[in-house]
Amino acid sequence: MSDKSPIKTDLVAGATYAWCRCGQSKSAPFCDGSHRGSGVSPMVFKQETNEAAWLCACGRTGNGPRCDGSHNKS
Ligand code: FES
Repeated sequence: MSDKSPIKTDLVAGATYAWCRCGQSKSAPFCDGSHRGSGVSPMVFKQETNEAAWLCACGRTGNGPRCDGSHNKS
């Protein structure tokens, strides 16, 4: 993935999401299936609460799917 700022996303309680980890999705930060054949798969997670979250778009977070500020580090 390239250096990209996180994307603010309104996550809904009870919903299941697939966070893109390959960097090829046209629907970032969510998986659109573009990873097929890359050997990378999305992180699927169920959201427990309604939350306005900053989801990682650089692929370097250590707290996926949420941003941990790694995009600011060189
Ligand atoms: S499109 Fe990137 S993980 Fe699915």
